[in-house]
Amino acid sequence: MSNLSEKTTMVVGASRGLGHGIATAFADAGATVVAVSRSAAAFPTAANAAAGIQSEVADASDATVAASLLDRYEPEVLILVAGARPYMRPLQQQTWETFSVHWESDVRITFHWLREVLLEPLRPGSRVVVISSGAALNANGSPLSGGYAGAKATQRFITGYAQDEAVRADLGIHVATVLPQFAPVTDVGRPAVQAYAARAGLSVEDFLRAQPFPMLTPKTAGTALLQLAQMDADGLHPAYVLNGAGLHKVG
Ligand SMILES: NC(=O)c1ccc[n+]([C@@H]2O[C@H](COP(=O)([O-])OP(=O)(O)OC[C@H]3O[C@@H](n4cnc5c(N)ncnc54)[C@H](OP(=O)(O)O)[C@@H]3O)[C@@H](O)[C@H]2O)c1
Repeated sequence: MSNLSEKTTMVVGASRGLGHGIATAFADAGATVVAVSRSAAAFPTAANAAAGIQSEVADASDATVAASLLDRYEPEVLILVAGARPYMRPLQQQTWETFSVHWESDVRITFHWLREVLLEPLRPGSRVVVISSGAALNANGSPLSGGYAGAKATQRFITGYAQDEAVRADLGIHVATVLPQFAPVTDVGRPAVQAYAARAGLSVEDFLRAQPFPMLTPKTAGTALLQLAQMDADGLHPAYVLNGAGLHKVG
């Protein structure tokens, strides 16, 4: 996987935030990138002139979209980043609809896409990364973000099931989960940081200073995912926490 220039990378959820940083990093490294999101994305010209980013406007939670885009592009690197913005409020102020929003988007997207990866199947040697969240590892979940932590934990479980099925069928496809910690400049991270800072009685700045890890940005996420895509298959671990200091093996 070290040379990305002849390979297609598909980033699902790339119009902004971490996915935008990841798509940009892969294009800069010379990969052909397909950027999937419901709204059109604007990208800077890739540092590597041979590379290009093609935007596909589609709803990734639609069961037919995964099949048709995987069929059309046959990516060798697939990164599922897409996720809903959380409704930040305590349990009693959630409705079932706000509480379950990440089950209807993040979990649904992971289910449809990993199922298609196995059915298609992607080519041997392909690599699939699912972006979950560090919240999935919290003992007390995500008390101000509804069903977020549980949904993100389920994404990690589904990824493990898919890796197991890929091994059983000898597909040669490697599937891993990445669990980011706070990225306070993006649309999922920003409201979360504001709500948890307010609950702790701290300003956002003091709350962020108190975190025991450096903050993630779209750019550092791009660098880390590039590193993961270029790692030897033998060295791949099933799950990694990701923060501003890079990737850290979990479990
Ligand atoms: N930011 C953090 O602190 C943090 C921490 C841990 C985990 N994460 C996870 O990292 C991922 C990205 O977070 P972010 O903060 O970068 O989010 P973001 O800025 O809101 O970006 C989300 C991206 O996903 C796309 N998307 C959402 N639903 C989609 C759908 N149904 N079909 C296609 N594209 C869809 C959005 O584009 P459109 O709206 O145009 O479709 C957008 O490009 C999420 O899964 C999130 O849970 C984030």
